[in-house]
Order: sequence, then C-alpha cells, then structure tokens
Amino acid sequence: MAVASKILVIGGTGYIGKFIVEASAKAGHPTYVLVRDSTLSSPNPAKSKIINNFKSLGVNFISGDLYDHGSLVQAIKQVDVVISTVGHALLADQDKIISAIKEAGNVKVCRFLPSEFGNDVDRVHAVEPVKSAYAIKANIRRATEAAGIPYIFVSSNFFAGYFLPTLNQPGATVAPRDKLVILGDGTPKAVYNKEDDIGTYTIKAVDDPRTLNKILYIRPQNNIYSFNDLASLWEKKIGKTLEKVYILEEQLLKDIQEAVPPRNVVLSICHSVFVKGDHTNFQIEPSFGVEASELYPDVKYTTVDEYLNQFV
Ligand SMILES: NC(=O)c1ccc[n+]([C@@H]2O[C@H](COP(=O)([O-])OP(=O)(O)OC[C@H]3O[C@@H](n4cnc5c(N)ncnc54)[C@H](OP(=O)(O)O)[C@@H]3O)[C@@H](O)[C@H]2O)c1
Repeated sequence: MAVASKILVIGGTGYIGKFIVEASAKAGHPTYVLVRDSTLSSPNPAKSKIINNFKSLGVNFISGDLYDHGSLVQAIKQVDVVISTVGHALLADQDKIISAIKEAGNVKVCRFLPSEFGNDVDRVHAVEPVKSAYAIKANIRRATEAAGIPYIFVSSNFFAGYFLPTLNQPGATVAPRDKLVILGDGTPKAVYNKEDDIGTYTIKAVDDPRTLNKILYIRPQNNIYSFNDLASLWEKKIGKTLEKVYILEEQLLKDIQEAVPPRNVVLSICHSVFVKGDHTNFQIEPSFGVEASELYPDVKYTTVDEYLNQFV
C-alpha cells in the first residue's frame, strides 16, 4: 500500500485551516502545522481548544512564521505536500512559501495548495474591493506555475458556516423569519459547502494523480442553489412565506461604494456570486479542472438541505 504523504499546513489554526488539519490527521497523513510560538502559548480559549484538538489527533507542531524564511524551509523539507490556509492579509506574502519550497529543494515531489478556498479567481467578474484580493490569489497561481511547483488550486466556493446561518444576510446574526433581502435577482446559482467536507475533499485530492496541476472544484450537485431556491427551501422548513426585498445590481454597486470594511468586502463577494454567478457560470473543463464529488463519490457530504435543519 502506498505510504500516506506528509502534509504541512501553514495557517492551520485559522478558520478553514483547522478543518484541513483535522481531515489530514484523520485520514492518516503524518500532519504538521507551522505555528507561531505566540499562538502555541496563547491564553485565547478558542486557540487553545484548536491546539489541544490537534494534540489529541497526533498533529506535529513546527514552531515558525511565514516571515521567518529559515523556519519555512526547515518545515517544508520534512513534508511532501504544503497547504497554505493563511488569511486575507497574508495572501500576497505567500510568495515566501514559493521561495521556501524552491530552496527546500523538493519542487519535484512537493504539491503546493495555496490559500484559495473560494471562487475560481481566474474566472471571476468581481468589483473592488474583492477584485484586488482575487487578483492577488491569481498572481500566486502564476508564481506557482512559473516556479514549476506541482499544485492544486482548491475552489471550494462558499463556506457554509459563513453564509447559511443567516441565509446570506450580511450583518445579520440569525436566519430571517419575516423579511429576506435577496442580493441580485435571485437566479444565479451559488455553491455552499460545509467546512468539514472542504477538509475531506482537499485531503483526498493531495495524492490523487487526477488532481495534479488542476483546479479542484467543490461543486456537489445537492449544494448548488439560486438565492430564490434557497429562500423557498427555508420557507418550506419554517412553514412561512417571507417578505422579499430584491437589491438589484445598480443598487448593490452603490451599497458597496458606500459601505466600510469589512462590509464592502462581503458585499463585493456577494456581487460576484449572486449577481455575476461566478460559482457556476462556467463549465469545468477537463483541461483545467476536476469536480470533487465526482472524483470521490464515496464522500457523504452534508447537503444544504441537511445543514439548514439546525437553524429551524
Ligand atoms: N469561501 C469562503 O466562504 C471563504 C470565507 C473566508 C475565507 N476564505 C478564504 O480561506 C482562506 C483562509 O482564510 P481564513 O479566514 O480561514 O484565515 P484566518 O482564519 O484568518 O487564518 C489565518 C491563519 O494564518 C495564521 N497566520 C497569521 N500570521 C501568520 C504568520 N506570520 N505566520 C504563519 N501563520 C500566520 C494564523 O495563525 P494564528 O492562529 O496564529 O493567528 C491562522 O492560522 C483565505 O484564502 C480566504 O480568502 C473563504
């Protein structure tokens, strides 16, 4: 039997990172997390919970920092796969990971999964401010390709936990019971995936020859919903018809310009997905991409229908 590859996660204590680390350890990969010393000894209960969970899963901690080149090189030398899940502010500085992979000398065996986990940034129709963030991710793609590093770009679409608890109502804290604001005309189809499933699919892909140098789309059939279809599903669950207010593109663009961070970022992501349809407005062609639920039909992913039940 093939030996499971060794996986390093940079940003493993972050929102999506912790699901990837857990999936890696549970799948039997020797799993390493590059963590800053300050985080390892953090009094923050949320961080210590993550660290303790990693310890119970047998995860190996490597003390380091994205801005400490030596620590990156040393960490990368120990593994076969590097997954970055660093957050927004560090996206551009992932060129440091690319340099470290080159220096570690394992360009040929290492697969790199840069921090993506969202829209396919080569196929977006976004406005600012998210336009610039997508451009940074696209630049990291180009730098990875130019360095000849084997890669997988994971396009996981929406994290369910970010969008479904409020049914895409930016700023709300609970799901609507009376009035629903629909961004756009409600017809473009978006994709929502539970974070554990994103972890599972990502880890299944790391050693798979079919995903080498491809975009891995997580677009399972039962998680594709237009805003209108999502509204109908929710109405059925709560047994009530909601008042609907549509914010069409012209108004949404004005709202984005008037909003302050982070609301303008969220609204511009919503514009890309709910107005332009950037999760689903293109076919996945074999020349550049593969779809996770087709590659791994054995994975019993959580559907949007099931996910919403917890909020009823
Ligand atoms: N599709 C969606 O719905 C969606 C939603 C949100 C984000 N995303 C994408 O998911 C990706 C990850 O975002 P996230 O929100 O999960 O990230 P995050 O929660 O902000 O996590 C950032 C991680 O980077 C680590 N980090 C920070 N500074 C570091 C340094 N100097 N050296 C090493 N590690 C450092 C943090 O460690 P500490 O624990 O030490 O702080 C943390 O583990 C991004 O590409 C983002 O665009 C997608």
